[in-house]
This record gives sequence, structure tokens and C-alpha cells, in this order.
Amino acid sequence: MIDYQDVLNTIYQEIIQETEKGDIATYIPELANVDKSTFGIHLQLVSGQAFSVGDAEKKFSIQSISKVLSLALALSRVGIDLWDRLDVEPSGNPFNHLSLLELEKGIPRNPFINSGAIVIADMLVSLLEHPKEDFLDFVRDLTGDDTIDYNNKVADSEMQTGFNNFAAANLLKSFDNLNNDVADVLDFYFHQCSLEMTCAQLTKAFYVFANQGHCLKEKTRLTKSQAKRINAIMLTCGFYDEAGEFAFEVGLPGKSGVGGGIVALLPNEFVISVWAPGLNEKGNSKLGMQALEKFTTKTNQSIF
Ligand code: DON
Repeated sequence: MIDYQDVLNTIYQEIIQETEKGDIATYIPELANVDKSTFGIHLQLVSGQAFSVGDAEKKFSIQSISKVLSLALALSRVGIDLWDRLDVEPSGNPFNHLSLLELEKGIPRNPFINSGAIVIADMLVSLLEHPKEDFLDFVRDLTGDDTIDYNNKVADSEMQTGFNNFAAANLLKSFDNLNNDVADVLDFYFHQCSLEMTCAQLTKAFYVFANQGHCLKEKTRLTKSQAKRINAIMLTCGFYDEAGEFAFEVGLPGKSGVGGGIVALLPNEFVISVWAPGLNEKGNSKLGMQALEKFTTKTNQSIF
């Protein structure tokens, strides 16, 4: 029997001593005001027990981690036709890369690069009566927590500065792969990215992927097959041009965000979230990745 609390405590002590903490994302100005020394982990076992260390109850901007939740909602509504508009291949390129999108005629490589997530956002804007409210309800329902909310300042900050995403959305539109107005789709997309959650809330939200499509309340929110496929895309595309490195070092499906969060899971066993806001050069949490490597190595638990 693994003493998970002891493992988390040990990792915490090792990680807080690291002096190379990476760099805070500043391209979204509102994200720049975060303390680099923040660090937390939350672990939720599928069997029910949960463990925490450090700043696991502090809220942070989940950013691209939200792309897994928007994909889940879209896939649960649209089904496999969703894949007519985007692919499931790793891009081997940064999350905001554009030239591949042009080369491949407006079909994004996968739903986790920005252009892919913008196509998913477009689907949700078409499908949902009140897109922002309905998406928030979906996340609150998965997590069982009505306090989760958008940070409008962060969303506005990205609306003012997200020129690369405007370029991606316009490129998609030029290839006929965006049905709604660019501004409406990006307003939704920037809000989904601005969602604030704690490590503890994130593990609860992602429980549905570790538990074959059943959320924490044991209600079915995805089919077993949908959960399986979303996990596969997390493994192959969840860390952009560092997906190989994450599989190599950590060995779990997962997703990162430029707010410094990472959530990863072992199907049928656990979900683990870490938050360390300093990023490496690929835009993924530097110490978060190190912490997860230590976790799967010390507990000898990964998909491999
Ligand atoms: O669209 C963007 O650039 C941000 N809202 C999200 C990027 C992100 O989190 C990339 N992940 N590591």
C-alpha cells in the first residue's frame, strides 16, 4: 500500500528547493501578477481518497486545460462527426503555431492546439443556447462545485492582446471551418481559458476521464469510448511540442496550461493536479512536470 501523503510531502520538499522555477507567462498581461514560488499538488484516487500538499486550494487560471473540458462537452453532444473538422495528430509545434494550419487547409492537427480549440469553441457557440453559462454549468456539474467561475479580467486581457488567436480564427474562417463570427467565438474561447480553479477542483473535474466517463457523482457524462479517446489525445497532444517528453518523463495522459497548471491521470486509478506558475520554454509548467515525474517514479504508477 502506497503512503500517498508521504510521497506528496517528499515531492513538495524537493520541489520548493529548486531555484530554476521557469518564467511566468506574460503574453496575457493579466497572468503576470502571480507569485512564482506558489506550488501545490492534489491527488484524487478513483476509489475515493484524496491527498493534498502546498497551495492545492488556491485558484489559478486554468487556460489550455479548459480545452479538454470543452472537447468533452462538444464530443458528448456532437459525437464522432466532430472529427470532420479537426484531426487527432500531434502537431510537433507550439500551441499557437499557424503555418501548419494554412498548409493543411484549415483543419487543425488536434483539439488542444489553439486553432483546434477555437474550432471546438465554434461548435459550442453553435450548439449551446447560452454558451458561456452552459459551459460553466457543465464544468460546475463535473466538479460538483458551484463556486467555479470565469475571471473576466483575464478574458478581457486576452481579448485585447490575443492577436495570434485572431489570426488563427480568421485563417479558419477563410478555409470555411468557422461558422460563427470570429469575435463571438473568441469571446467564448477567451472565457473558457480564463476559468479559475484550484488543484483540488481540477482533479474533481477530470475524474470523469479516469472513471470511464462517470463523474464524481457517478453520473455518466461521457461514454467509455469518448473518455478513452480523450485520454489518448491528452497523451499524444496534451503538451504540444513537448508531448513526447511528458510521455517519456511522466507516462500519463495529461494537459497543461500557461497559468502553470497540469492535470494528469491514470485511468481507473487516480487524477493528479499540480500548479507551479513558472513555465519552461515550451510553455508548460517547469516544476509541475518535475513533480509529476517524481510522482510516477516514486509510486511506480504510469500507463507504461
Ligand atoms: O490561447 C492562448 O494562448 C491561451 N488562452 C491558452 C494557451 C495555453 O494555455 C497553452 N498551454 N500551455
